[in-house]
Amino acid sequence: MTSHAPRKVTLTSDKQATVSFDCPPKISILRAAKNAGLELSAGCMQGRCYTCRSRLLEGHVVNARALSRYATVDPADLGDGRILLCSVTPTTDVIVVPEGPWADGVVQRPITHDTAT
Ligand code: FES
Repeated sequence: MTSHAPRKVTLTSDKQATVSFDCPPKISILRAAKNAGLELSAGCMQGRCYTCRSRLLEGHVVNARALSRYATVDPADLGDGRILLCSVTPTTDVIVVPEGPWADGVVQRPITHDTAT
């Protein structure tokens, strides 16, 4: 059974206070965070730069849009529980650990990021 109810997204980290927001169906977690007034580390917004790479602790996600035929990775499953927040939408409530910082309305970009999986 598919529900069109928003899913609860919780961002957690050992470096920051935990925050939660709703993510409507078919909207990426990154976009839903922005709509909730949160800024997460992001770059291309197309699943290419890995700046938004995160670890999915609980729940399930699917791709928010069809993959390009040139796609070389699945943003909903990079392996080892990693996902790309710009490209996935939750199908259940989820708990996610972003690799970069987040803030209320302030963009914080990591100084460097590792693109290796
Ligand atoms: S913002 Fe570039 S992969 Fe998500």
